[in-house]
Amino acid sequence: MAGTEYFGAEEKKEINDVLETGILFRYNHDTQRNHIWKARSFEAEVARLTGAKYAHAVSSGSTAVTCALAAAGIGAGDEVIVPPFTYIASVEAVIFAGALPVFAEIDETLCLSAEGIRKAITPRTKAVLLVHMCGQMAQMDELMQVINDHKLILVEDAGQALAASFNGISTGLWGKTGCYSFDFFKIATAGEGGVMVTNDETAYKLADNIADHGHDHQGNNRGMENHPVLGFNYRISELHAAIGLAQTRRVPMIREKNNIHKKHMMAQLGKIAGVNFATIPDPNGDSATFLNILLPNTEIAMRTVEEFNKNGVTGFNYWYTNMYHFINQWDHIKEGRVAAKTNVQLLGAPQDYKNLHLPKTQETIGRLISFSIKSGWQDDELNELLHKIGTCIKDALLVAAKH
Ligand SMILES: Cc1ncc(COP(=O)(O)O)c(C=O)c1O
Repeated sequence: MAGTEYFGAEEKKEINDVLETGILFRYNHDTQRNHIWKARSFEAEVARLTGAKYAHAVSSGSTAVTCALAAAGIGAGDEVIVPPFTYIASVEAVIFAGALPVFAEIDETLCLSAEGIRKAITPRTKAVLLVHMCGQMAQMDELMQVINDHKLILVEDAGQALAASFNGISTGLWGKTGCYSFDFFKIATAGEGGVMVTNDETAYKLADNIADHGHDHQGNNRGMENHPVLGFNYRISELHAAIGLAQTRRVPMIREKNNIHKKHMMAQLGKIAGVNFATIPDPNGDSATFLNILLPNTEIAMRTVEEFNKNGVTGFNYWYTNMYHFINQWDHIKEGRVAAKTNVQLLGAPQDYKNLHLPKTQETIGRLISFSIKSGWQDDELNELLHKIGTCIKDALLVAAKH
């Protein structure tokens, strides 16, 4: 929850700028708004932080994924390879785009693996929706190889990985389009918000149109604008953008503090035999919002969670059973429970969603416990937490050794 740790004067100032003009809408009203354009400024700040040529802010990370897919040309009937470990928004966005999700294996980076993608490719595969999980990044050099070999379109959901990078290139900028979430739980929050990024001018213009009923945003007579493509309303309000702007400016500082804490945590907990961590393909590019602990097996991880609960340790996620981020909790997708037909029902699921064989993913997520890193932790607070975490893990390992 790093962004919200720092909610303060800067956020209030940006919001007040908007309230003083009364123009909460991101377009037009040029005279009344007195040069206050928070959505534009937020986009410029995200572009500066990530190195994106273009950024377009929208109402949520979920709608940012939707825009990223549409602007990359992903639509009805396209098979899109997705991970079974992601916030479900990624999969929902593929389904509501009319496309067909194909689940592939992840590896210990917690992201899709090159091998997993290769095995999931069919003649109908159009794209890969890569999700950079838990503040880290995928193994991009291996992934780009398979994506280029098979001429697939790469769309990146970096909803959890703003300010992460691989070899100096930000997550979100490896493919045709990418996106970030600025919901309440992210390294920077807008309250609710998302940003689609790209280095491709055509994709950017499409996203800009799609996110606002197809408007081309030329001139200042909104009612008479041209509509190059069909769109919908994914607009961000000026108030949300104002908060996102102030928060994005804080990200380099938060990232630096997170990394200091994470390195310390890994050094301390890494001394315990049996404790490993999720692979970080480029440690210099970690946004370090999560410490991702890998235990020897699922049973030990479950015992550790029990120990944490018994001893009042909080601030962690056990995704395998406890969170909406893992396919084991997505019965509605497996059973095709929808309010209204999607293309999965109409065209048929490309896989038997009820009987997916993803042993590497099951094994990896079974072993994974992720702690949210607070950038504002004081040393004594963090050391006390580390002591508790270490004791619980050791106890769980001891019980396992006796069995
Ligand atoms: C990977 C990923 N993608 C998309 C989203 C959706 O973002 P939002 O909550 O802003 O709609 C999230 C949110 O947690 C996420 O983690």
